[in-house]
Amino acid sequence: MFLKSSNAMSPFYVAIFLNGLLCVANAINFTTVYEWNSFDFIWPSGADNSKGEIEQKFNPDYVYPRYMAVFGQRLFLSLDTGIPATLVWLPTSGTLTAPPKLAPFPSWDLHKKDNCDTIQWAKGLQADTDGRLWVLDNGSSDCSSKLWIFDLANNDTTERVHQFPDAVISHSFGGRRMYEVVLDKSPDDDLAFIADYNSQHIIVYSRKNDKSWTVKTPGRSWFSLAVSPNREARQLYLKRYSSKELYSVSVSELKNEGGSAAVKLVGEFAEFPFKMEIDSANVLYAAFYRKTHLTKWNISEPFREQHVYEAGYLDSNWPFTFAFDSNDTLWLTSAQDIIVSSIHPQPFLRLNHKE
Ligand SMILES: *[C@@H]1O[C@H](CO)[C@@H](O)[C@H](O)[C@H]1NC(C)=O
Ligand SMILES: *[C@@H]1O[C@H](CO)[C@@H](O)[C@H](O)[C@H]1NC(C)=O
Ligand SMILES: *[C@@H]1O[C@H](CO)[C@@H](O)[C@H](O)[C@H]1NC(C)=O
Ligand SMILES: *[C@@H]1O[C@H](CO)[C@@H](O)[C@H](O)[C@H]1NC(C)=O
Ligand SMILES: *[C@@H]1O[C@H](CO)[C@@H](O)[C@H](O)[C@H]1NC(C)=O
Repeated sequence: MFLKSSNAMSPFYVAIFLNGLLCVANAINFTTVYEWNSFDFIWPSGADNSKGEIEQKFNPDYVYPRYMAVFGQRLFLSLDTGIPATLVWLPTSGTLTAPPKLAPFPSWDLHKKDNCDTIQWAKGLQADTDGRLWVLDNGSSDCSSKLWIFDLANNDTTERVHQFPDAVISHSFGGRRMYEVVLDKSPDDDLAFIADYNSQHIIVYSRKNDKSWTVKTPGRSWFSLAVSPNREARQLYLKRYSSKELYSVSVSELKNEGGSAAVKLVGEFAEFPFKMEIDSANVLYAAFYRKTHLTKWNISEPFREQHVYEAGYLDSNWPFTFAFDSNDTLWLTSAQDIIVSSIHPQPFLRLNHKE
């Protein structure tokens, strides 16, 4: 079990007891890979005189993982907020006693505040099977939103920087709210689907044509996305922000540049999800706003959630982020606030992975 006995009277324990949903046979058994109670970066070395300034602005107490991707021996995280690099990487193996320092990806040179040729605010991430890392950049008040594609097998070189046209993603900073990017890989083309919570459409990017467009979903704005693995009948799953409803649309409808897509309601979660991923066996995993559990649903069957993980007491709005690697290993971070004083909770992050 995942419960700590000292938590016996916490509200979370009562919820488990009442729902009785977490059956041990369903439980994901995670192995803890790293634990932190404070973060540090690998700072620029040598004569770089920006080092002092970057270090000074860094507050190790405010590091929140948002999105994750895994490829080969590396794990990539996008981080919020007010930190010197919003995209970092860590090795997938290491020692529990010495959690790794965060390495900026691909380098400090691509994280310069208000330099629009660099990453301003990394959000959604995806690693594809060819070793490309796709990074959605929300931009800044001066820099517009971009999609970056890095080649992980070729010294992390920048393969593509797509600057979205104003008509696709607003160039005015207040006019966009970028969250997630997901991929539809096929022999013909690699398409990325992107959610902008400030607009009522899905953004589509074609790698083959280096072009982006929108497909309207009137009356609905999207926040989190997931793509099913079966290429022949591939579906994009979509979730609004303050909503429990899950929708889907066939990815073939998203090639309809400038047209509309008919999204269908497929089910209703018990809580508000902020993150979903589907593994190669068609199982959708979801994490929920201010909730300590994960659920799964086999998308080949009618909608039905099963609890698969309980983390104990987590006092965070987005307590987890997770991703599958190419071997279908599920990697998860969980944020647990350990109260070191009544006025200043210390973030405690643990990185786990399922065997
Ligand atoms: C997790 O561990 C429990 C207890 O050892 C076991 O009963 C259960 O089958 C395991 N679950 C999985 C998915 O391996
Ligand atoms: C996946 O498995 C292969 C073969 O066992 C291994 O070489 C590779 O490193 C694994 N990938 C990851 C991301 O762990
Ligand atoms: C990566 O960079 C190193 C050093 O610059 C170089 O020796 C190596 O050939 C490069 N590898 C690739 C795959 O380009
Ligand atoms: C992206 O930038 C906008 C403009 O400030 C901001 O309102 C929004 O919260 C940012 N998006 C995310 C997902 O943080
Ligand atoms: C999902 O459901 C389908 C149809 O019932 C079944 O064939 C498949 O084995 C299930 N997958 C998993 C991982 O349970």
